[in-house]
This record gives sequence, C-alpha cells and structure tokens, in this order.
Amino acid sequence: MSKAKTTYFCQNCGAQSPKWVGRCPSCGEWNTFVEEVIQRGEEVKTPGIISTSTQRAVKPQLVNEISIGKEHRIPLGDKELDRVLGGGLVPGSLVLFGGEPGIGKSTLMLQLAVNLKNIKVLYVSGEESEQQIRMRAERIGMNNETCYILTETSTQNIFKQIEQLEPQLLIIDSIQTLHSAHIESSPGSVSQIRECAGEILRYAKESGTPVFLIGHITKDGSLAGPKVLEHMVDTVLQFEGDRNHVYRLLRTIKNRFGSTNELGIYEMQGNGLREVSNPSEILISNREEQVSGVAIAATMEGMRPMLIETQALVSSAAYGTPQRSSTGFDLRRLAMLLAVLEKRCGFRLGAKDVFLNLAGGIKVEDPAIDLAVVCAVLSSNEDIPIASKVCFAAEVGLSGEIRPVSRIDQRISEAEKLGFEQIFISKYNKKGLDPKKYNIQITMVGKIEEVFGLLFG
Ligand code: TYD
Ligand code: MG
Repeated sequence: MSKAKTTYFCQNCGAQSPKWVGRCPSCGEWNTFVEEVIQRGEEVKTPGIISTSTQRAVKPQLVNEISIGKEHRIPLGDKELDRVLGGGLVPGSLVLFGGEPGIGKSTLMLQLAVNLKNIKVLYVSGEESEQQIRMRAERIGMNNETCYILTETSTQNIFKQIEQLEPQLLIIDSIQTLHSAHIESSPGSVSQIRECAGEILRYAKESGTPVFLIGHITKDGSLAGPKVLEHMVDTVLQFEGDRNHVYRLLRTIKNRFGSTNELGIYEMQGNGLREVSNPSEILISNREEQVSGVAIAATMEGMRPMLIETQALVSSAAYGTPQRSSTGFDLRRLAMLLAVLEKRCGFRLGAKDVFLNLAGGIKVEDPAIDLAVVCAVLSSNEDIPIASKVCFAAEVGLSGEIRPVSRIDQRISEAEKLGFEQIFISKYNKKGLDPKKYNIQITMVGKIEEVFGLLFG
C-alpha cells in the first residue's frame, strides 16, 4: 500500500502547491492554502459505468471525413433556456448553471424537470429533502410522470442509481454538495469539486446523457470552486438579477455549441419562473403624467434589443460632498459622464447630488445607454421632462461627442415596434442606414449641446 498523496490547494483560485504557503502566488489571497488528499493509499477502482476509454487507440482522422450525423438537440420546452443554449440541449453535454444563493436556480431546474414530457429526468439534490422538493414542485405546478428525485451526495451512490434508472437527463443540485470516495477532502473543496465534476463529465460523454450542474457563486461573482470547473464543462450559464426585484437574466458565459450572445429573461412569480418574451414592455413604466429625469435607452443585451428606462435625480447637495449613486449602471462611468457634462458642456453639476436608477433592477453594460443617462441627468437638472415617445441609442465620448454604436438598425426597429416616435443616434451611425425604411423619426446628433438644444432649448 502506497502512502496517501496530498497537495495544497488555494481555496480561492484553485492554485496548487506541493507545500504550504501563506500567500497564494497566483491570486494574492492570504492564508487560503489547505492540504487535501488527492489520492488514497489503496488502489481505487473506477465504478463500472466509467470505462477506460482513454486507453483506446485513436487514430487521426481527416476533418472532412468525420461524420457528425444530423445535429440532434433536445428541445427543453422552455424558450428562453433553449435559446440561451443555442437551440436546445446537445446530448452528452455538461452545462454548469451558476448563480447567487436564492436567485432561483433550483426553481428553474425543477421547473424544467417536472415539465419535460417523455424524457426521463433524474434530479439529484444534496441541498433539500424529498418533501421540500415535492412541495416546491407542487407550487410550480407539475405535470409529469417521468421525473425522479434523489437526495444523495456521494457520486458513487448516484452512479449506482443512474445505472439502474438510466435517465435521459441528469440534474445535479449542486456540485458543491457532492463528494467522491476517491478523495478525502470535504465537499465543496477544490479537489472534491474537480474530482466530482470529472466523474460526471466522463459519465456524460460516455453515455451521451446531458447533465445540468448547479453551482454556487462567491461574493465577487465568480463561480465557487476552481476555474478548472469552467474549463471542464461545455456550457456555462449564469443566472443573475437583484433578489429584491422580480426579473432574472440568464446569460451564457461560455458555450461550445452556440453563441454566447444570447440572453434569457424570466420573471419570478408566486408559482415559479415565467418566461418574458417581450422585455421592453415591462422595463418601461407607463405613466400618465410626464416627469423630468426620465429617458429611455435602446440597448442591446447580447443579440436582444431591449428598451430600458433610466431615471436620474439631480438636487443640490445637502452636505459638503455631493453624493453620486447608481443602481444598474457603473458608478465610475456615471462619474465620467458627469465630468464630461461639467468640463466640456459647462453644466454645473459639481455641487449637486446625482442619483441614477435603471428600471427593473437590471444591470446594463452596453455603452449605448450613455446618451439616455446624460439626457436623464440634464432633464432632471433643468426640471423639463423629455417627451415620452423619444428614445436614445449612442455612446458619449470624453470630449462630449456622440459616438456610434453597434447594431443600430436593430435598435431602431425595436423602438419603432414599441411605438416610439423619435430616436436620437450618433451622426456617425449614418453610413449604411436608410432612414426612409423606418416609420420613426431618426435624429442624428454629433454633440451633447445639439441634443440639449433640441430637447430643452
Ligand atoms: P431557489 O430556487 O431556492 O434559489 P437557489 O436554488 O438559486 O438558491 O429560489 C429561492 C427563491 O425563489 C425563494 O426565496 C423564493 C422564491 N420563489 C418564488 O418567489 N416563487 C416560487 O414559485 C418559488 C419556487 C420560489
Ligand atoms: Mg438551490
């Protein structure tokens, strides 16, 4: 019997070291190295389901001679999820589904499991009891006779059940609760996560069964566990949103079978998550009277156009230092836009409090929202409302110039579709654009002063 082999792992980033070190050389965190047993003394037997295919001799093949057959995808019956996955689930694929605690990961996966028709699903939970899951399934309304629930955390036992049941889809909630007998360290540690994910990966590839792995997210927004987990899986989906709001965004971070530009939107309701097929309609509040400080931005989330309401409040600072706060929009970018307004355009905002808020608790990184933010701030500062059928799509540069943005025709079409009458875009977006094609007035501007003159002058 050989000696047990151990090594030290950084619990923050997964870096390895043969001896203990106080500070991780790769991520710089202090006191994160923990000794983990990576191989037990005795010889471990691989469970029956995992054959040693790696030992099979594989010959190189000409790429055009490799048969792919007809691409086969399993439709999940959930339009948002299907789209995000690139048109359905690919057999044998391993999908990592990450998100903060309480965001609705278990809800979405259970909803998927109990609503899939004619597909045998095994939902393995290491976090909740069968009763809890049953109660939740009733709450979200089940109509299924082929969904099995298993509360188990040992991968060996899970594989034993899988051998008997032969499910066509496996859902694991969550990877951090699993443990494998091949490794001694505790569940959730870097080496356990890696080993369990590795076993599941081999199972998925060899049996052709697609697997969803639910994973937790750490405070800083990255998936808990080592980066290797992200490298191992085929697709990484992230579920995000503000827990105090009802909207949830489903993003693709990585996808070996489709683009990463897709976005799914859900609304959390009393009876589960509902797909939102037209996001723009819910992100714009329909109010009767016009108020100042509101501007609508025509943004893109990946490939999806979305009109979002930006609200700003500018008021004289009550205390010496003016406050700047923003939800859904990068605070540093707001500071930059305010500096541009102050320095290039002569608006005196230095001594004022500025608050910015995007509707629906949604975060936007598309730079095309800049012009709407600037106009909302100016509208609040002047206390003059912007007409409700006007929207904006342009970036603002450091010298106050209005810069062009990508996919302008899609943004214009979306605004037109939603009944907007005027859209402000950059004059540099003119090339290749045919304004006669649209039934909406397209105003092209080059400088903030021009927009100001047109709106409030
Ligand atoms: P959950 O799926 O347990 O989150 P996660 O697995 O990501 O930790 O969902 C948690 C929240 O969702 C919970 O706080 C209550 C809410 N919820 C609803 O609002 N409606 C519902 O129908 C369900 C099942 C949950
Ligand atoms: Mg959960």
